[in-house]
Amino acid sequence: MSTIIEDELYQGYLTKVYQHTQGYQNYTDLQQAKFSRELVSITYGELLYYSVKKILKVLEIDSKDVFLDLGSGIGKCALQVFMQSDLSTVIGIEASSVLHEAALKISLQVRHDFPFFWEDNRKLKFIEGNFLNVDWENATIIYTCSTCFTQELLVAISNKINQTPSVKQVLSLRPLPTLNMTLKKVFTVECSWDSALCFLYTRI
Ligand SMILES: C[S@@+](CC[C@H](N)C(=O)[O-])C[C@H]1O[C@@H](n2cnc3c(N)ncnc32)[C@H](O)[C@@H]1O
Repeated sequence: MSTIIEDELYQGYLTKVYQHTQGYQNYTDLQQAKFSRELVSITYGELLYYSVKKILKVLEIDSKDVFLDLGSGIGKCALQVFMQSDLSTVIGIEASSVLHEAALKISLQVRHDFPFFWEDNRKLKFIEGNFLNVDWENATIIYTCSTCFTQELLVAISNKINQTPSVKQVLSLRPLPTLNMTLKKVFTVECSWDSALCFLYTRI
């Protein structure tokens, strides 16, 4: 099957499965205040289909790697990474329960439609919580759509990565200020709001 047809099929299916689900939420003032106190940045946006493919190309991936999306929203990026790589484990952590529930529901639908993606004990896991407090389960690759994250949150993420030796590659849409890793590459990606820079860091 040619890649163009394959991409059309993937995009068609993903559009269909997500047709009634969107990440933009109207949080109450109380919820917004709580999120802000807990360093949760609620501004929503997504990496577009071809840019998810781009990050999969840029990364050095081994099937044993564990890919973790910090702030996985409705799970689009994590799901596409799971479907288009041979990674054994893909994880998304999301603070908003509405978005987390949506990601879970859609992953169940996809598992029902295409169970073979889960063969060989592969795992697609969505965890509800603040990624600063939740265990990262031996993640080796971190991706974060961090464009709207505060400087305080970016520092907290950098520090947590510094304390997590399993992490070997990091992709962030904003530079990570206190990260003890080497900036290997900067490239552009297309997002639901506009294009953005993506910063790839590695351990060596
Ligand atoms: C810009 S969206 C990215 C969605 C998805 N990762 C993508 O790239 O398509 C950022 C998400 O991060 C979540 N988020 C922000 N801060 C968080 C935190 N501290 N813990 C968990 N989730 C967080 C937000 O609720 C939002 O859904």
